[in-house]
Amino acid sequence: MDLSTKYAGIPLAHPLLPGASPLVDKLDNIRQLEDCGAPGIVLHSLFEEQIIGEQTGPYSIREPHEEAFAEARTYLPASEDFILSPEDYLEHIRHCKEATNLPIFASLNGSRSGEWLHYAREIEQAGADALELNLYFLPSDPSENAEDIEKITLEVIQEVRSVTKFPIIVKLSPFFSSLPHFANEMAAAGANGLLLFNRFYYPDIDLENLEVEPKLELSRSSELLLRLRWTAMLHGRVKTSFGITGGVHTPEDVVKSVMVGADAVQTVSCLLKNGIPAFRSLLAGFQQWMEENEYESVRQMKGSFSHHNCPNPSALERTNYLRTLQLWRA
Ligand SMILES: Cc1cc2nc3c(=O)[nH]c(=O)nc-3n(C[C@H](O)[C@H](O)[C@H](O)COP(=O)(O)O)c2cc1C
Repeated sequence: MDLSTKYAGIPLAHPLLPGASPLVDKLDNIRQLEDCGAPGIVLHSLFEEQIIGEQTGPYSIREPHEEAFAEARTYLPASEDFILSPEDYLEHIRHCKEATNLPIFASLNGSRSGEWLHYAREIEQAGADALELNLYFLPSDPSENAEDIEKITLEVIQEVRSVTKFPIIVKLSPFFSSLPHFANEMAAAGANGLLLFNRFYYPDIDLENLEVEPKLELSRSSELLLRLRWTAMLHGRVKTSFGITGGVHTPEDVVKSVMVGADAVQTVSCLLKNGIPAFRSLLAGFQQWMEENEYESVRQMKGSFSHHNCPNPSALERTNYLRTLQLWRA
């Protein structure tokens, strides 16, 4: 059986990848993931705020946020809270390349264009095979319209493209008003892949201390459905590679992700919850499902549930919506 795939031009032995998380800050874990069958490694992110802080001192790391919100100063982690400094990050890439033959997907994480993006070139020079560009950003300025927000994202992609040659995969949020159109624009700006979607972490309110409380909850399989819908919608309509992240916990989740057209399927919460050996079980389950259902290759399965050949996906979505509402019986 041929499980091979290509993600943003990078050949992978199969589509299942461990996604960006602190698990891969340690070389031992990377080796263990490789032993469990990982075909590549996505590194934890290096953050815009870290790079700016390193370039201009610890005060200015907080400055842009302070303008927006007086309490932001106490919210931002101190530079020593990040496990790897920007310099350490480059060193980590070099060590990963020495420790394994797997492709290394580094990760830069920020929101707007700026000097910090030049780090993309340093990451490439350090030996990373590709870059995940995580544009985690929640628009909150009423004077910025949808076009402005898209422009901000496109500028970041163009800037990174102008200083690098390796594949860029944009990890994005689902909140765009016309994602198919915007996806095409991101591909034209230089994105070789799109990774659907960032999970947003919604802070809670601590009523006892009247404070905003950051909350980290791991995902569930139900979150995959949003990713399946949009990958099905975009696959074959946008000339770029697709990855899925968010809600991949079972072999069936991996199968569905490939069926809607994902070239790579990332998992994080499942590994944080169950440990690195869970990767091996997930992969074995995926392979077994393919065998039992007589698939000969990932290629044969890929995109079989995408809307590629559907003349009007919007009408299909509307039909599904109407059918779903009729399912409820008191
Ligand atoms: C503890 C933790 C740390 C993470 N760190 C990063 C990061 O540095 N960069 C990034 O792009 N995503 C990061 N993520 C997001 C994951 O890569 C992934 O997109 C998200 O958890 C959804 O996948 P899942 O449902 O398999 O967990 C992190 C997630 C967790 C839980």
